[in-house]
Amino acid sequence: MVILSIETSCDETAVSIVEAKGSQKKPSFKLLGNALFSQAKLHAKYGGVYPNLAKREHIKNIPLLFKVALQEAGLYKKRTSKISKNSEVGVRKILVREPELADFLIKFGKSVKKAKIDLIAVTNGPGLEPALWVGVNFARALGVLWNVSVTPINHMEGHFVSVLFNGPKFFRFPALALLISGGHTELVLSKKILQYKIIGETRDDAVGEAYDKVARMLSLPYPGGPHIAKLAEKIRKTKKVSKYSLPRPMLNTANYDFSFSGLKTAVLYTLKKEKNTTKRVKEEIAFEFENAVTETLIKKTKKAIEEFKPKSLVVSGGVISNVHLRKSFEKLANSYPEISLFIPEKNLSTDNSVMIAVAGFIRSKSNKIRKNNNIRASGTLSLS
Ligand code: KG4
Ligand code: ZN
Repeated sequence: MVILSIETSCDETAVSIVEAKGSQKKPSFKLLGNALFSQAKLHAKYGGVYPNLAKREHIKNIPLLFKVALQEAGLYKKRTSKISKNSEVGVRKILVREPELADFLIKFGKSVKKAKIDLIAVTNGPGLEPALWVGVNFARALGVLWNVSVTPINHMEGHFVSVLFNGPKFFRFPALALLISGGHTELVLSKKILQYKIIGETRDDAVGEAYDKVARMLSLPYPGGPHIAKLAEKIRKTKKVSKYSLPRPMLNTANYDFSFSGLKTAVLYTLKKEKNTTKRVKEEIAFEFENAVTETLIKKTKKAIEEFKPKSLVVSGGVISNVHLRKSFEKLANSYPEISLFIPEKNLSTDNSVMIAVAGFIRSKSNKIRKNNNIRASGTLSLS
């Protein structure tokens, strides 16, 4: 089947067209078209993502990305056609708050041949609600225009299953997942495909958020993760010690929860004490910060491995682009030969729409497509 997927939960607008084949346990995927635009540079000026600015940008960019993805897949064919009055009214009704998108889709429907798409999958949460609505409404209106089903997908489920895209391994259960992104830090236990139990999560900042906030304190651009990693790498490659020592919050608690806000505040105090924030000072702080984060994530994951004895370990989400973290999780998994480790390649770890298509296919093969004519975006949607 061919799936068109849409992701607009944060500051990436993305549209993919994925051909998916095989069974639920042996899926195979081929990327036919993929278009992604990151607004990070725009938000960088403000040091974080502004929901309404993100929404405006998604509205501006989604028509173009949609066209590019179709063109790449060879599914963009000019042809004058009629669209029924009913479809036109339906499209306008769904996109009442985004009239520019309604105009685009109606004009598009009249001039481009309907593409052979079997399912539209769209992220409906968690994320920034105004941003999510753009993708959801665009997907629903496209569903009406083309008469194709639309299924909502949880963004965190997308991160979880993103590791299946390149195959050929499939999860063995129970599977334990550590999902680390700009908005989330969650340890999830899955006993069966598409079944989730959150066993631990952050009580305050997400790991990616801590990276971004610390980066801001060090006058580094948004998103901060890669910049901190680069500074830390300098020390990691040379003397391997920092003169600073930062806390590892909740490292030894009896649960699987995390807390990163104390660590961030500790960086702030350290910087206040240092009168002269030289490059070396920044590098040593970044190194110690990254070590504190890594130690915490590894220790909690190890504790969960010991208790739940998973057969698969998934580490996914934007923060796992971090090379040191990747190596640390590879090392951890090496000490458990019975566990297979799943880490997505870099392009699939940060936000993308390919993972949303993967989730759509796994859902459709499990007869768990959430058919809902009234899909709603929810900023706080949790895995269930
Ligand atoms: O999954 P993602 O793209 O978006 C959300 O769903 O939030 O994750 C983005 C987060 C940002 O906080 C960014 O700073 C962090 O991932 N990140 C990194 C690295 N690359 C991206 N954090 C640490 N090291 C990196 N190399
Ligand atoms: Zn994400």
